Amino acid sequence: MINVNTFRSRKQSRTPISMVTCYDAWTAKILDRTEVDCLLVGDSLAVVMHGFDSTVHATIEMMELHVAAVARGAPDKFIVADMPFLSCSRGIPAAMDAVQRLMQAGAHAVKIEGAAHQLEVIQRIVEAGVPVMGHLGLTPQSIHNLGGHRVQGKNQAAVDRIMKDARALEAAGCFSVVLECVPNKLGDCVSRSLSIPTIGIGAGPRTDGQVLVLQDLLGSDPDFNPKFLRRYADLHETIQGSVQRFHSDVTEQSFPAPEESYG
Ligand code: KIV
Repeated sequence: MINVNTFRSRKQSRTPISMVTCYDAWTAKILDRTEVDCLLVGDSLAVVMHGFDSTVHATIEMMELHVAAVARGAPDKFIVADMPFLSCSRGIPAAMDAVQRLMQAGAHAVKIEGAAHQLEVIQRIVEAGVPVMGHLGLTPQSIHNLGGHRVQGKNQAAVDRIMKDARALEAAGCFSVVLECVPNKLGDCVSRSLSIPTIGIGAGPRTDGQVLVLQDLLGSDPDFNPKFLRRYADLHETIQGSVQRFHSDVTEQSFPAPEESYG
């Protein structure tokens, strides 16, 4: 299993870091047997697993349950868990309670969106011995403030703010930073200006690592087509086709066959 020191050394040796989201034990068990570096129990689980329209609906109870399932399925992977919506905004004790629940459920680090108003809490969590991954650019918990899923950092003021926030996250003690939906050039600039690694999603090829949502890279939703996504499978077709064939076999009474039955 990698650890926070590996993140730094990977940056120094220019060996990219791979991260995928994981929300449950059965996929965790499969991913545990891959070489992928790191699993993210992202709050995107509110959308992908629970059908909500945004990550705002992820609660600490949900996150805790999914982290525990992933930890049971992937005992050999470094697991990062998202701090859910507003869990860092109700003061240090409330944030620490959330961190405690995620770490005791099996996470090895927490991820926190944003910088400005989070720096003190990030610093305190790091001082308490818990690794923190930052998250800048498109921060889905602020989606209503950002006006939708849009590429961030498109004007000079936004570029300056993201650069400043990235440096502040490094100074606060983050061991890495996710950069979501920013132009390639900004992904490159932030990555070169930090000594901690950046992990990009829609941030171009020059970040220090890449992350994708597992269900997206597996092609589970044919209607989700962001520019940054590469599909490695057609899970939608595989699942739909397989279950349709099962249904046909049952209705045609060709399943179970004699060799699939206890004689
Ligand atoms: O919640 C999530 O899945 C994330 C990734 C998109 C980075 O934060």
